[in-house]
Amino acid sequence: MNAENQPVTTASVRKMPFEKYRAFKPVSLPDRTWPDQVISKAPRWCSVDLRDGNQALIEPMTPDEKLKMYHLLLELGFKEIEVGFPAASQTDFDFVRLIIEHNMIPDGVTIQVLCQAREELIARTCEAVQGARHVIFHLYNSTSTLQRKVVFNMSREQVVAMATEATALVKAHADRLQQQGTQVILEYSPESYTATEMDFAVEICDAVMQVWQPTVANKIILNLPSTVEMATPNIYADQLEWFIRHLPERDKAVISLHTHNDRGTGVAASELGLMAGADRIEGTLFGNGERTGNCDLITMAMNMFSQGIDPELYLGEMARIVEVSECCTKIPVHVRQPYAGELVFTAFSGSHQDAIRKGMARVETQTGGVWEVPYLPIDPVDVGGSYRETVRVNSQSGKGGVAFILENYYGVSLPRPLLLEFSPVIQKLSEGGGELKPAVIWKAFTDEFVDVEGPYKLVEYRLLGGSGLRQVCEAQIAVGENIIDIAGEGSGPIDAFIAAMISTLNEPLNVVDYQEYSLNEGSEAQAICIITIVDEQQQRFYGVGLSQNTTTAAFGSIIAAVNRKWR
Ligand code: KIV
Ligand code: ZN
Repeated sequence: MNAENQPVTTASVRKMPFEKYRAFKPVSLPDRTWPDQVISKAPRWCSVDLRDGNQALIEPMTPDEKLKMYHLLLELGFKEIEVGFPAASQTDFDFVRLIIEHNMIPDGVTIQVLCQAREELIARTCEAVQGARHVIFHLYNSTSTLQRKVVFNMSREQVVAMATEATALVKAHADRLQQQGTQVILEYSPESYTATEMDFAVEICDAVMQVWQPTVANKIILNLPSTVEMATPNIYADQLEWFIRHLPERDKAVISLHTHNDRGTGVAASELGLMAGADRIEGTLFGNGERTGNCDLITMAMNMFSQGIDPELYLGEMARIVEVSECCTKIPVHVRQPYAGELVFTAFSGSHQDAIRKGMARVETQTGGVWEVPYLPIDPVDVGGSYRETVRVNSQSGKGGVAFILENYYGVSLPRPLLLEFSPVIQKLSEGGGELKPAVIWKAFTDEFVDVEGPYKLVEYRLLGGSGLRQVCEAQIAVGENIIDIAGEGSGPIDAFIAAMISTLNEPLNVVDYQEYSLNEGSEAQAICIITIVDEQQQRFYGVGLSQNTTTAAFGSIIAAVNRKWR
């Protein structure tokens, strides 16, 4: 029954045509060991931004953009970079020539070039890499059951022959290149590995190894792509553990992974793949790549970092990485992109803000440098952010958020009763929707407590010596249209000013609390005075004064408090 006591009818929700699809058949591996493994060191990273990433762009990168991306990748510390598919694209060919001819490949960095298993493409690719010191020749052909049947109409034997003949060709070119000073490492990808029968994947990789003749010192790279992600990451890990167990001469191969993200688990698949024994990971910055993208190397590396593992990439200037990536790919990085999005270290909710504040206070003094702050998996400072950005205010935020903004952006620490009084002002403002930026909160604060509309305005004042240690204050106060001269004597300037207000203006003034401190350092330092007065009914009124001069700030706070009383 619903509120009107009517029977609730079942909504008629239409069905998706799920019968059209079949569940992915997992490999049988009941004695799998990978779930007990723990990732404890960074893999060999290989960026494919300039190839897979570039291939997937609406507007492929211009030569300048490629160069910009290339320099960023070098700066981040990539030692292996797939720089293009030179036989398929003249721009890629020219780019490879440019970085070789202009000596732009630093020592210790190896460029990688992709090539299909076809004779003329292999020759052209080898032409592109002449003159480089180290090259990974990335040879691939599809091995999947479906593609063999639908696309190539080839038997297993024919596909193996295609791969081995291509390998022999690469080997012949590599021998020639070697004599000219170019070391070639072969990377072989059975493309669509995850959709290939596992025994066939092993068979073809083994056949390629037989031709290439890798050694323990000169390993081949076997790259096992989930060209289209088709199953949960644990199934990929099972496939990898199965492959590694069955591959003859495993010690002569580097097992590399190249995941895509069709099911949204490209990073997870690569992580479980590492647990299953892989050595190397291909991927891109923020996961740019075909369709839903590649494994996001930033997320994967930062995940390791957050576990206390050296990621062996430098990601400390995340905003700049985002900027270069957006500029080169023309794809915006999402505000919730792990570790890099604008909102990923931000709490709007009051309870989260409070926990972060307490956690931060504790981490500064009590955890021996170990990061333990609720809701923040890492210290934003480590990626070039700041603690300030963790708290932002909207209608979900409480007083804690407001206090945080005033403290961290303006150095103002409000006494709790004043904060309680200010909080509804902010709550009301935030009901208009959206975020309240620090400047808006600050303006609301000064409107409410500093520049208070009311009967009195301080025009000017003078302090004179009084009898003994006492002080005299003469001031001019605008009261409506009139300027009134007031004068009083007291033990200090504030006492004297209050005495003047009481005696001349007949304004009862009972100060019960007074705080004053400096807001910032140096000659531009501003003083803040926060004053509390009570009226005859013991009602409290707060006023705040701001000035470079502490006496002016104090007098301002008194006028503000009195004006608020009359408001
Ligand atoms: O996704 C893929 O399979 C590829 C290969 C060329 C390695 O990009
Ligand atoms: Zn790919």
